[in-house]
Amino acid sequence: MSNLPTQVTLVDVGPRDGLQNEKQTVSTEDKARLVALLQDAGLTEIEVTSFVSPKWVPQMGDNSAVMAAIERRPGVRYSVLVPNMKGFEGAVASRPDEVVVFAAASEAFSQKNINCSIAESVERFVPVVQAAHAAGFKVRGALSCAVGCPYQGEVRPDEVERVAKMLREIGVDHLGVADTIGVGTPRKVQAALERALKHYPLHEVSGHFHDTYGQAISNVYASLELGVHRFDTSIAGLGGCPYAKGATGNVATEDVVFLLNGLGIATGLDLDRLVDAGAFISGVLGRPPASRVARALLAKRG
Ligand code: HMG
Ligand code: MG
Repeated sequence: MSNLPTQVTLVDVGPRDGLQNEKQTVSTEDKARLVALLQDAGLTEIEVTSFVSPKWVPQMGDNSAVMAAIERRPGVRYSVLVPNMKGFEGAVASRPDEVVVFAAASEAFSQKNINCSIAESVERFVPVVQAAHAAGFKVRGALSCAVGCPYQGEVRPDEVERVAKMLREIGVDHLGVADTIGVGTPRKVQAALERALKHYPLHEVSGHFHDTYGQAISNVYASLELGVHRFDTSIAGLGGCPYAKGATGNVATEDVVFLLNGLGIATGLDLDRLVDAGAFISGVLGRPPASRVARALLAKRG
């Protein structure tokens, strides 16, 4: 217990990972409003959108418009996904603070998600990393399917380490270990993180856990036990990946904050305001938040 971190940073990926999976078009204005509400709740790291092919993910087609519409606040960092140089070139005018390249630990998922092999994806990231660093942007890497793949099944820690090492070697600054389909359980997640930690320092490793099987909160706790203190979370538990059928949202920001508050770990976040932000976007989508904490607190409000 005493070894748990005293402070945790959350990156809300709801505007990107959350909304990318929604069939109904969410307006640019509502996306910008969501970002504003997340800032009101104290978030200082927000993953706003992705510069991917609009044919592959139509919901993110208004990427530049969203980046232009958000009201930027001092001290807040805005990140965007870029799968290749075309995505980077699209993103650069939007002045992100950080770009996110995304690779997979499983070959099959790499093909389905970005239409190329793991090795090809890493090759494509080389000029992206160079251009991003030249422009002064940090580069985060997301490593999908770090504990399981919807096509391959089991993913071994060796496979995680292999790709983590490749990303480190090309200069990716940070590694997000992602359980894309939410099948991870604490020991498996720790094994994947331990392999990432062989190539990245503790402060440059984060957890990105989808909650499909209801394990994400325990996986956050298991990560805290290793000292990991950065997590991607999604407001209202929105999300999923269009190329991972059936995968539901990321662990809800509200649920993680409730856990961390209970553990006395500082986040700088206002839970009530998070619930407001989640209620707003859930209203836009016409359904209640997936976050259990949000639902409990909304019921209490009456
Ligand atoms: P491709 O078809 O192999 O690309 O797709 P291509 O290079 O052959 O180009 C085909 C067409 O796409 C061309 O246009 C390009 O210009 C265009 P056309 O000549 O046919 O008119 N194109 C682009 N357009 C806009 N932005 C770009 C771009 N690149 C090419 N960046 C590609 C390859 C990577 C583009 C495609 O597979 C793609 O966009 N995939 C994105 C899939 C995606 O967004 N998945 C969800 C995000 S990842 C995720 O959610 C996981 C994560 O949360 C962690 C976790 O949970 O695991 C991060
Ligand atoms: Mg994800």
